[in-house]
Amino acid sequence: MPRIAKGAVPSPNIWHNPQIYELENRAVDPDGVIDTAIRSVRPWTGATILDIGCGTGYHLPGYASDAARVIGVEPHPDLAALATRRCAALPNVTVQVAAAQSLPVPDASVDVAIARWAYFFGPGCEPGLKELSRAVRRGGAAFVVDLDASRGSFGEWFRAAVPAYSPRLIEDFWSRQGWNRLELTPRMAFTRRPDLEAVLRIEFTPAVSQRAITETEGLEFPYPTLLRWRLF
Ligand SMILES: C[S@@+](CC[C@H](N)C(=O)[O-])C[C@H]1O[C@@H](n2cnc3c(N)ncnc32)[C@H](O)[C@@H]1O
Repeated sequence: MPRIAKGAVPSPNIWHNPQIYELENRAVDPDGVIDTAIRSVRPWTGATILDIGCGTGYHLPGYASDAARVIGVEPHPDLAALATRRCAALPNVTVQVAAAQSLPVPDASVDVAIARWAYFFGPGCEPGLKELSRAVRRGGAAFVVDLDASRGSFGEWFRAAVPAYSPRLIEDFWSRQGWNRLELTPRMAFTRRPDLEAVLRIEFTPAVSQRAITETEGLEFPYPTLLRWRLF
């Protein structure tokens, strides 16, 4: 049995509930504001893209439709197997079991590295940042997309569910790294109320998810997001 790659930070939402996480991925950002922002900083048509922490590979086919080559890296072997299966018919996609701290790519071989919903890039992730500097070639860029827990109802729910989480400390860490930042507010929009409730239940503790469900009317809510990047 393959092991979870060293350095992986547990991700209970997708590790334990990949099918519900799939519903979440489908619901996030129907307007494409995140990809539009990334592509306006560093276009990826014809590029080599590295998706770090690709999970079940939800974003790989989208990248592969414009990029020359896409490499998904995921430390959890079961999720990496799902990503491989999802992309089996796409000749320009490969998936490898690995973590951000030890990327399985040659030096200066990547144009665009993207880590999405990447809580593992934060205080203590210096080995991963060093790997990015090694792997991304001159003219390339690295992006980290993550929840902005300092804003909105979603941020409040997250802070209530994870009281030890400090948006201030995360921000201080990134400002010391000298990365750029952009606040985005994509929608998380569902077609069925049971899907919205199932997703809120995998994101928070039972008490906080109940509160989030009660406070959310209809089928969507804003999803405060931070896009961070560095050009190489
Ligand atoms: C919240 S999920 C997001 C998955 C995927 N990016 C997506 O958008 O569907 C975070 C992923 O990061 C992976 N992960 C955790 N620690 C990691 C590390 N040190 N390096 C790379 N990936 C990591 C987890 O296994 C999980 O699949």
